[in-house]
Amino acid sequence: MSTQITETLLTWYDRYGRDLPWRRTRNPYAIWLSEIILQQTRIAQGQAYWERFMKHFPNVETLAAASEDEVLRLWEGLGYYSRARNLHAAAQQIVTQGTFPVTLEGIRALKGIGDYTAAAIGSIAFGIPAAVVDGNVYRVLARYYGISTPVGSTAAKKEFTALAQSLLPAGRPGDFNQAMMDFGAIQCTPANPACLTCPLASGCQALREGRVESLPVKQRTTAIQTRKVDYIYLRCKGRTAIRRRGAGDIWQGLWEPLTELLPGVEAKLLRQGVRHQLTHRTLIADFYLAETHQAPALPDGYVWIQEAELDRYAKPRLFELLLQSLD
Ligand code: ADE
Repeated sequence: MSTQITETLLTWYDRYGRDLPWRRTRNPYAIWLSEIILQQTRIAQGQAYWERFMKHFPNVETLAAASEDEVLRLWEGLGYYSRARNLHAAAQQIVTQGTFPVTLEGIRALKGIGDYTAAAIGSIAFGIPAAVVDGNVYRVLARYYGISTPVGSTAAKKEFTALAQSLLPAGRPGDFNQAMMDFGAIQCTPANPACLTCPLASGCQALREGRVESLPVKQRTTAIQTRKVDYIYLRCKGRTAIRRRGAGDIWQGLWEPLTELLPGVEAKLLRQGVRHQLTHRTLIADFYLAETHQAPALPDGYVWIQEAELDRYAKPRLFELLLQSLD
């Protein structure tokens, strides 16, 4: 279906769409990689990682052949490390299958890929007519059509998916999806949208009714929890103690320092109240340095490593901050 909003968004995209390296290729591997990185990361940060990954692992075979540690290390600092583990597992799925899947169902069956990412990759790499639905799409469509269904509900997902799907142009589904993403990020922003220069202003219901600021309607979000952690850097004869996080949390596979003071080992407080923001949790950390000449018994799971070899281990951001406060 070709409607006014579709045509206007495509024209806008041709003129103002962001020039991004993964938009200059149809290589599904490169596009897939960009979509996984951008799942929870801003473009400004994600682009450098995309370039790093493309250089280090130029194709799916090299990524599949790498060790999980190597992939995690390259991912370090991006957060949501399950994305890196899934990326690695999916690369192996693809190599086993022989080629990158070319259907929406095939793409959706790869690890780490949900409806949104399958639609993004399918439309951009293969021209499959599948609409993406994310926060940008909710916002642009809720405003343009004056829709008050609270986003986040199942009903909203159905309603907005059907609407976005009905607007998708058969010839340029990937461009339309990316036009939505850019339009929501640049023009129809959550706060202070640029309505004065908006090419959709004449047809925008929210603008007509003075409801731009109040749309989309959001459901109450879950409260952000705060958690306290102690990070203790133990130093003994040029070695330190670290432990690999086990299954079941966001830092699975990453290495962390001691998280409890050891009886009989004195520790100096280095920094107090270091805040680290995760999506649904704020961590507040105290950093300690414990130096001793006699190696204490370590808690379960910890191993001694040479301090000089620390950079070989993938670490959460907070551990990097602890290391910085040692200097
Ligand atoms: N966010 C997720 N995928 C994107 C893409 N292809 N372009 C811009 N932002 C994105």
